[in-house]
Amino acid sequence: MQKNIGNVIGMYPMPITIVGTEIDGKVNWINIAHVGVIGMDSMMLSMGKAHYSNIGIRKNKTVSISLITADMIPAADYVGLVSGKNTDKSDVFEFFNGHLQGAPLIKNAPVTMECEVVDVFETETNEQFVVKPINTYVQEEYLDENGKIDFVKVSPVLFEMQKRRYLSTGGALADCWHIGKTFKGE
Ligand SMILES: Cc1cc2nc3c(=O)[nH]c(=O)nc-3n(C[C@H](O)[C@H](O)[C@H](O)COP(=O)(O)O)c2cc1C
Repeated sequence: MQKNIGNVIGMYPMPITIVGTEIDGKVNWINIAHVGVIGMDSMMLSMGKAHYSNIGIRKNKTVSISLITADMIPAADYVGLVSGKNTDKSDVFEFFNGHLQGAPLIKNAPVTMECEVVDVFETETNEQFVVKPINTYVQEEYLDENGKIDFVKVSPVLFEMQKRRYLSTGGALADCWHIGKTFKGE
């Protein structure tokens, strides 16, 4: 029997991301867990209005989004604890510039995307930035022979809010759009 625990968001875990911006010529990093995929070509970042990072995103209309591996957790947590308002976080991750101004890309991230901001919608406390990836950079060891990202190998760090923990992924369970064909014994 399920127990009703109220209006708790039960949709975790989700990947932790590091979002890179540039404000007044200086790189800033923020830890963002509340991300989503919209359709086949866009993503959404839900970011509290008061964050320093939002200033850069609003101005440049660009941003980078990186997945992280377990060894990056302490640095990722740090950029989620302190604000660029009063702490210089520019040296936390080594970065390179791609094609978009204002979207610094993390050098040792398994996957890092430079994105354009195409829309913003506000809720009372947050700005939801709708972004499209323009270029996606992947460490070669995580690409399979067909040039696809192997997310089992990447094993991106996940986040869950109830116990405020970082989690790891498991392996692959089944092939999508495929295993269902066995359900009715077809
Ligand atoms: C694990 C973790 C997840 C976070 N997820 C989000 C999030 O999804 N949205 C958000 O607005 N802030 C999130 N934060 C908070 C920001 O990362 C944090 O307030 C940061 O210091 C703001 O940096 P800035 O002011 O330099 O932009 C998260 C922090 C941590 C540690």
